[in-house]
Amino acid sequence: SKRIVVLISGSGSNLQAIIDATQSGRINGDVVAVLSNKADVFGLERAANANIATEVLNHKAFDSRESFDAAMMQLIDGHTPDLIVLAGFMRILTPEFVRHYEGRMLNIHPSLLPKYKGLHTHQRALDAGDTEHGCTVHFVTEELDGGPSLVQGRVSIDPDDSSESLQQKVHVREHQIYPLAVEWFCAERASWSSEGVVFDGQVAPAEGIQ
Ligand code: GAR
Repeated sequence: SKRIVVLISGSGSNLQAIIDATQSGRINGDVVAVLSNKADVFGLERAANANIATEVLNHKAFDSRESFDAAMMQLIDGHTPDLIVLAGFMRILTPEFVRHYEGRMLNIHPSLLPKYKGLHTHQRALDAGDTEHGCTVHFVTEELDGGPSLVQGRVSIDPDDSSESLQQKVHVREHQIYPLAVEWFCAERASWSSEGVVFDGQVAPAEGIQ
């Protein structure tokens, strides 16, 4: 069974979906710790309710990104994780941190990558007149929101959609695809290689499994 550490900065609804899938036995693993860079976020309550160890590391208490990331690494490695899951963790990571967890760190991003890296993805999809939007689970590499995709979930954009309604639709899809991606990683069906994502022994398409 795999040991999973989840990093959050907020409400933790993706964390909850992953906890639920470990508790049901669908994921061959356990969330052994949840780390937040912000105190008083609801995701920490979700972890405590599931009897999962929590840690808060306030990035503002550090004088550099490097020292914050080094402290995070030390905390995370104390839990000897097989997998690091970024679930709404809103800090940019240093190359040292990313390299340290290469091949064993996943992120979820609220767009159909490679479209709309960065912030305000829902509004940007609306502004572009897209008819489709979604979310992507990808392995984390040094390029921000640029690592190889494992799974994508799509939603249609309707004429009366707002950024808020779109965000809600995408969240529903996120809660489906993130547990699925973690399930595949923990079952050793999905892994990272220099050629991209390998799924069931074959290099997956660049956009990930749909
Ligand atoms: C999710 O929508 C996730 O895609 C997004 O933050 C939200 C966290 O929600 N992540 C990013 O924007 C990363 N740049 P949650 O705390 O309820 O899981």
